[in-house]
Amino acid sequence: MQLPDNLPHVSLMEGVTPLQEMPRLREALMSDGRACPQLYIKRDDLTGLAGGGNKTRKLEYLIGDALQKGADTVITAGALQSNHARQTAAAAAKMGLAAHLILFETVPYEDPAYSTSGNLLLDRILGAEVHRQAKDADARAVFEEVTEKIRASGGTPYLIPVGGSNAVGSTAYAQVFLEIQDQAKAAGITVDRIFHANGSLGTQAGLLAGRALTNGGPKVEGISVSKPTRESLLGELLDIANLTSERIGGSLVQEEDVRVEFRHLGDGYGMPTEGMVSAVELVARTEGLLLDPVYTGKAMAGMIAAILNGEIGETETLVFLHTGGMPGLFAYPNEFKSK
Ligand SMILES: Cc1ncc(COP(=O)(O)O)c(C=O)c1O
Repeated sequence: MQLPDNLPHVSLMEGVTPLQEMPRLREALMSDGRACPQLYIKRDDLTGLAGGGNKTRKLEYLIGDALQKGADTVITAGALQSNHARQTAAAAAKMGLAAHLILFETVPYEDPAYSTSGNLLLDRILGAEVHRQAKDADARAVFEEVTEKIRASGGTPYLIPVGGSNAVGSTAYAQVFLEIQDQAKAAGITVDRIFHANGSLGTQAGLLAGRALTNGGPKVEGISVSKPTRESLLGELLDIANLTSERIGGSLVQEEDVRVEFRHLGDGYGMPTEGMVSAVELVARTEGLLLDPVYTGKAMAGMIAAILNGEIGETETLVFLHTGGMPGLFAYPNEFKSK
């Protein structure tokens, strides 16, 4: 099955990302004699654009839309260490657009590296204009000010929402749902669940729209790294999912299809947890794979906890969607200790 081919799109990556087994992680989780489901990882950290990640996929549709609308400048927002902002800067550079990043000091994490290194360093190298804002700055006012400034100097701005999470961006993850199904079929496996990090909700919304398009398939298991409760995200998630579904000609996403776990958020977005550190180190030391401290580390902690708590059947096959974010490790150098 394919998405409609008339949706505006630019090419920022080539081909499909690998779907790989994680045999040594599985072995480590079985070390005390327990059974473990089959474990695969979908490598969307390998999308190839300036460090990779899930935003490359969303930006293929968002920049496609921006160009169709005649824009020459993109504006987006996020936290200081936003992977989305870094990917937007890279996509803009590749497509010859200017990029303005409005970055808020929302994470109370006190390490000098957090406010100088990681994604922020890459934003500068990629040539984006960074507008750094205090935590309590009036986001709407800052957006308007930046937009006006661009217009006044003759530019045509296009606003990309936080995380690229609207129906345009989320279309990419409906595509990824189909891609995983195709890869699973080719590998002769049936995927029961896809685990992933849930931030600005567009990835889960897109996966669910893909699932609605195919009328079933793996359950989509979001691990929240930002919103604290089901009530705080359900309405927005269903809105994005159903607008995406409408855009690609699928059926309605139902409330009961939205599965999100909140136990791995810890003290909030961007704040490290013990589970995140253990998951990042375990995956690095068994599979040679680097996760990130804000999203995929907490999501992996969630998948591992679900396995160890016996919430997953031992005959199931799980796919962990690696959504990237590795540059964020350099913003948290003091969380990780030598073996
Ligand atoms: C590395 C990484 N993983 C996962 C996510 C979450 O994706 P979404 O914002 O679509 O929920 C993000 C979003 O910023 C991210 O940067």
